[in-house]
Amino acid sequence: MEQPWAVILAAGEGTRMHSALPKVLHLLCGKPLLWHVLQAAGAATKKQVLVIGRGAEQIRDYFGAEYLYVEQEERLGTGHALRQALPHLPAEGDVLVLCGDTPLLESGVLETLVFRHRQRRAAATILTASLTDPRGYGRLVRDEKGQVQEIVEDRHLAPGQEKLQEINTGCYCFALQALQEFLPLLPQNKLKGEYYLTDLIPLLIKAGRQVEPCLIADAHLALGINDRVQLAVAASYLRERINARLMRSGVTMIDPASTYIDAGVEVGRDTVLYPQCILEGKTVVGENCRLGPGLHLVDTRLGNSVHCQQALVIDSSLEDGANVGPFVHIRPGSRIGAATRIGNFVEVKNSSIGQGSKVPHLSYVGDTQMGPDVNMGAGSIVVNFDGRRKHVTSIEEGAFVGCNSNLVAPLKIGRGAFIAAGSTITRDVPPDALVISRSKQEIKEGMGKRFLKGKKEKDQEK
Ligand code: UD1
Ligand code: CA
Repeated sequence: MEQPWAVILAAGEGTRMHSALPKVLHLLCGKPLLWHVLQAAGAATKKQVLVIGRGAEQIRDYFGAEYLYVEQEERLGTGHALRQALPHLPAEGDVLVLCGDTPLLESGVLETLVFRHRQRRAAATILTASLTDPRGYGRLVRDEKGQVQEIVEDRHLAPGQEKLQEINTGCYCFALQALQEFLPLLPQNKLKGEYYLTDLIPLLIKAGRQVEPCLIADAHLALGINDRVQLAVAASYLRERINARLMRSGVTMIDPASTYIDAGVEVGRDTVLYPQCILEGKTVVGENCRLGPGLHLVDTRLGNSVHCQQALVIDSSLEDGANVGPFVHIRPGSRIGAATRIGNFVEVKNSSIGQGSKVPHLSYVGDTQMGPDVNMGAGSIVVNFDGRRKHVTSIEEGAFVGCNSNLVAPLKIGRGAFIAAGSTITRDVPPDALVISRSKQEIKEGMGKRFLKGKKEKDQEK
């Protein structure tokens, strides 16, 4: 069966969002509303035509050349929007029409719609759903025999019609010939002055063309996003769907309700997610990892068997067996090598940490290339910024950086070098050298005792 084309209506003002951003670019689990619609449409249709208006440039920039764009210059309603696409569609066959703001529809539902449409040889097939709270949606009006008569918008319902529970999802399959013939005849809706696509239905029926409803079983798939309350509701449904898919593929979630994973994020099997994990953007997690509680990964790649908790990691990678956290901030451009240990109040920025190296406590590492098996003692700091410019540091394999050292960049610490605790290093250190750069210790015999005695007497006077 040849797939039809799709038209996605995405030109609307999105007034009810009260936003500077076009509605269809608002994010749902990390991706624009329109992205979700295109995922479903892409799988069920051959070619996708996007009708755009508000924020047209932004939409083109985001989605690129893969799609055919048609601009609706004046926003005169859904019927007017579809009319703009008409000259770009094939003359024969079927077309699927979708709204850019119904992001939960899945490709399987669209395929069922097309199948039903073709089976019945209909001129139009309307995807409908039965909602307990149908407010805000257009309602299907059927006659005694159950035949569709019209779709009445929520705001135009006649007394008694509020009870109608079957809603128009805004998704339809049309025979292209019927569209070419009747869409140009669509009247302006008397009540709002717009061209409602829904008004095409009575036109077709009057002309004796067949109009079929196609009721979807899972009503929440029909959710349309007009405001931010609906956006949040849709996000909670989509999160459930994403989490269920991952759990079924072998990921353990201690508390799915507090696990927030963006669409498109991948997680390998036998990975365990503790509560409060947020996995965003292009994040990919390997197998057998133990993540959280309290972890925020953004655009980050994790290998296998990584342990990471109480951390924020952005645009970086953690390789196999890395052990990171608690209380760690890994900033963009970092590569945390295999079997490393990064922990307890450590910040790493734009640095590479070699295999097996340890930065276990209270350190800052910035703009640094660190070889394997380096030990950064507690409180050691890379001083990468001189107040005007950032400088680079390299710490070679097996070097030992004592506690509370300052490495003032630009700097190179040679392989196997040993830096005594408390040193401030300003010049390169050759391989295998030992360097102490701190003031000499002085010992004054008996002076401690005298000092403490004097202090005691003073305290007693108080
Ligand atoms: C529409 C339907 C309603 C249905 C609901 C499903 C009409 C008249 N009403 O109502 O029956 O229950 O969707 O969610 O069709 N758009 C344009 N150009 C325009 C106007 C709208 O491209 O001039 C696009 C919007 O960007 C949006 C879609 O069409 O993606 C639907 O428009 P919207 O204003 O959200 O319609 P609803 O009031 O939700
Ligand atoms: Ca809508």
